[in-house]
Amino acid sequence: MSKLLIQTIKSENCSSVPIWLMRQAGRYLPEYKKVRSQAGEFLNLCYNPKLAAKVTMQPIERFGFDGAILFSDILVIPNALGQKVDFLENQGPVLEKINNNNDLDKILNIDINLFHARLNPVYETLNILKSSLKSTTLIGFAGAPWTVASYMVMGKGGIDYKQFAVFANENIEFFNNLLNLLVEFSAYHLIKQVEAGAEVLQIFDSWAGALEGDDFINFSSIPAAKIVKLVKRIYPDIPIIGFPRGAGDKIPDYILNTKFDCISLDQNINLDFARNQIQKLCPVQGCLSPDTLLSGENLEQETLKILDTFKDGSHIFNLGHGINKHTPIKNVEKLVKIVKNYNRLV
Ligand code: CP3
Repeated sequence: MSKLLIQTIKSENCSSVPIWLMRQAGRYLPEYKKVRSQAGEFLNLCYNPKLAAKVTMQPIERFGFDGAILFSDILVIPNALGQKVDFLENQGPVLEKINNNNDLDKILNIDINLFHARLNPVYETLNILKSSLKSTTLIGFAGAPWTVASYMVMGKGGIDYKQFAVFANENIEFFNNLLNLLVEFSAYHLIKQVEAGAEVLQIFDSWAGALEGDDFINFSSIPAAKIVKLVKRIYPDIPIIGFPRGAGDKIPDYILNTKFDCISLDQNINLDFARNQIQKLCPVQGCLSPDTLLSGENLEQETLKILDTFKDGSHIFNLGHGINKHTPIKNVEKLVKIVKNYNRLV
């Protein structure tokens, strides 16, 4: 059975636009909160195949999205490498910090079999999901090395990323070792996800927007390009979506250098630029502000503006970043209705 989301990435002419939302399984859903409280800690949920598959399916059952993204997190990679990762209520993730080559050797146990064993529940989750999905596309993912490294070194998110780029350059030998390690293990994790049933992959570089010039090339673009190449060596036809959040006018070169099949755009991108300079290079995804979906104000107008902008090329509807946990369900229902009723061919 041909799936709308995959057809769209392959640039086949489709009359309707597929839709899924970043962080679509999460705390804005009462049914998620229920399972989450049963599972206890967030990582317990990620490593429980039955429950992780269940929460992956919740937004599909409720809204009929075209993509089901594996319920997991970008920080399972550092965790599977042996780094302590805790998710604290209202504070987000907190990690034991890795600052130098000595920490790399001391804290991480980079044994591929151990890494695989620790992440096996994630592949089991995909196995369960594979058999429950019909027209919905199963999406696997990983964080990009720059974004994951920032959590590993600084121990948390929301830091001063420009300052972190200075640290990276001042400790370049260590930082390159860390990036190369993440390239290798992320590619391995993504390949395993495809083997277990993922049909599309996405790489999240949530903090790419802080990088300029050579730093952007060396820390964001080149590591992403290496991952794409390693995954495609095993699975040449697997579509891979890149999400260099905040990269703005650097995106056309990023696409040419990384060879992503599709690019996810945040809400700050200029729509004319996105259509004229980005969509002509590859299919696009994204752009709706999570704040618009949260408030519901001008939702129809903003949604139609994005649909009209991209209607002559390939486009997957999505947000510019993850859904806000206070988003009313009725706003999501309204969004899905607008996108599903939109006909590109008229
Ligand atoms: O539904 C999905 O999108 C699939 C699962 C998914 C999660 N995290 C679940 C999650 C995906 C794809 C991610 C990616 C992720 N995780 C990113 C990249 C995308 C982005 O948002 O920029 C990053 C930077 C992380 C790291 C992370 N995990 C943070 C910063 C947080 C705290 C944020 C918060 O909302 O509390 C998490 C926790 C997390 N990951 C939650 C979920 C559903 C909330 C955990 C909970 O239930 O308490």
